[in-house]
Amino acid sequence: MSLNLQEKDKKNIWHPYTQMKDYSQRDLLIVDRAEGIYLFDENGRRYFDTISSWWCILHGHNHPTMKKYVSRQLEKLDHIILAGISHESVILLAEKLVEITPDPLTKVFFSDNGSTACEIALKMSLQFWRHSGQPQRNRFVSVLGGYHGDTIGAMSLGGVPEFHEEFKDLLFESFSIPSPHCYRCPMGKEQNSCELECLQPLEDLLDREGQHIAAMIIEPLIQGAGGLRIYPVRYLKRVAELTRQHGVHLILDEVATGFGRTGRMFAMEHADVVPDFLCLSKGLTGGMLPMAATMTTDEIYNVFYDDYVENKTFYHGHTFTGNPLAAAAGLGSLQVFADEKPFDRMKQTIPHLHHCMERFRDLPWVGDVRKLGMICALELVKNRETKEPFGFRERVGWKIYLEGLKKGLILRPLGNVVYLWLPLSTTMAQIDEITELTYQVLSDPANINGWPG
Ligand SMILES: Cc1ncc(COP(=O)(O)O)c(C=O)c1O
Repeated sequence: MSLNLQEKDKKNIWHPYTQMKDYSQRDLLIVDRAEGIYLFDENGRRYFDTISSWWCILHGHNHPTMKKYVSRQLEKLDHIILAGISHESVILLAEKLVEITPDPLTKVFFSDNGSTACEIALKMSLQFWRHSGQPQRNRFVSVLGGYHGDTIGAMSLGGVPEFHEEFKDLLFESFSIPSPHCYRCPMGKEQNSCELECLQPLEDLLDREGQHIAAMIIEPLIQGAGGLRIYPVRYLKRVAELTRQHGVHLILDEVATGFGRTGRMFAMEHADVVPDFLCLSKGLTGGMLPMAATMTTDEIYNVFYDDYVENKTFYHGHTFTGNPLAAAAGLGSLQVFADEKPFDRMKQTIPHLHHCMERFRDLPWVGDVRKLGMICALELVKNRETKEPFGFRERVGWKIYLEGLKKGLILRPLGNVVYLWLPLSTTMAQIDEITELTYQVLSDPANINGWPG
C-alpha cells in the first residue's frame, strides 16, 4: 500500500517550498495519524513534530476537546457564506478574540490564511486613509528579513529575497528598513550594548516620508521565516512609538507568534504594544483547520461605516471566510487554554527548554543560540570568529533534515538555521528527548555539509 501511495503522490502532487526533484528521488514520509506531539507513518514509526506542522499546532495533534468542538459543529452546519449572514461559532469566536486582545482591538475580519490576514490589513489601511482625506498615504514600510506570506501584497512587503526574488516584477514598491538581526547586526553593534542604531533609518524615513506612509508591518519579536531572528522588546516598543508619532498605522503580524508560542498569548504583550491591525492565523484554530483574522479598532472601522451610497464598503472576502468548522476549532482551542492552563505549565517547560539548548553552544559550528518561549534556533556557521555562513550550495540544512528523520525528528532547517518550534503542550520529558536527539544529529560532523574539518 505504501509504495502505491508514494507513487501516486509523486505522480500528482506538487509540494510547497519543495524542490520536486529532491522529493521524487527519495522515500517519502507519508503520515498516517497523529497524536500529541507525535506523527506516525504507515509503518507505525513515530516522529516528533518539532515544528508544530509549520508552526500552527498548539496543544498537540488531535486534541480531544478540539475534536469534540469540530464534530459537534459538523452535526449542525458545515459551511455558510459570511457576507451578511452569520453563525454561532464565528460570533462566539470573534467575541473571545476581542476579550483576549487589548481593548482598542474590537473588530474581527476573518479570512483563511496568514498571507490574507496581512493583505487585508494593508487594504484596510489604504482604504482608511482614502476615506480620511489623506489619499497620499499610500506607501508601506516593512523590515528586511521579514516574512508575511506568499501573495502579492505580502511578498511586496517581504524581506527574504531567497523566497521572492523570482517574482519581483509582480511586486509593488515599498520602503524597507534594516533587519534587527542582532547576531549579524547591520550597524555593526552588539546586542546588549546597542542603542537601537538600526532604527535610525526608520526615524529618517518617517521624518522624510511620514505623510506618504499608510502603515508599517512587522513581526513582533521574531522574524520567523527570515531565519528566526529574535530581537529585543525595546526595539518593538520604539517602532510603536515612532509609528504613533507620525500617525502611521502599525500592523503586527502575529500569524506565527500568536496564541502562546512566545510564552505570552501574543508576542506584543512582552512589549506592551497595541497595533492598529493585528494579523492572526496558524494557532488561531490550534492548527486544526485553516482560518485567519485581521483585528482592528473602532476608530478604523468607523471610517468605513456610512450610508451605502457613500461607497465606503470594504470590498474584500474569501469563500471560506469564517468557516463554521474552523471557528469551532478556534473555540475548542481557546477552551483548551482555559482547561489546561498552558501558561502555567510553560513556566517550567520554557526555562527547561532554554537550559537544554545551552549545550549546543559547545559545537564549533553553532554560531548563535536564540530562544523565545517555545521557539529556539541555532545558526550554523563555518567559522565562529568570522561568522562565515555555510553557502547555498552546501545545503547544510538538507543533510540535517534527512538525518533528523532517521532519528524520528521532523527538523526542517531554514537555510543555516536549525530550529525547534514546539507545541505549548510539550512536556519536560519530551523536551529532554527532542533536544538529545537533535544534539545527536548536530554533534556528528558528518552531518554538517560543508564543515571545513
Ligand atoms: C509571520 C508570518 N506571516 C504570515 C505568514 C503566511 O501565512 P500562510 O502561510 O498561512 O499564508 C507566515 C507563514 O509562515 C508567517 O510566519
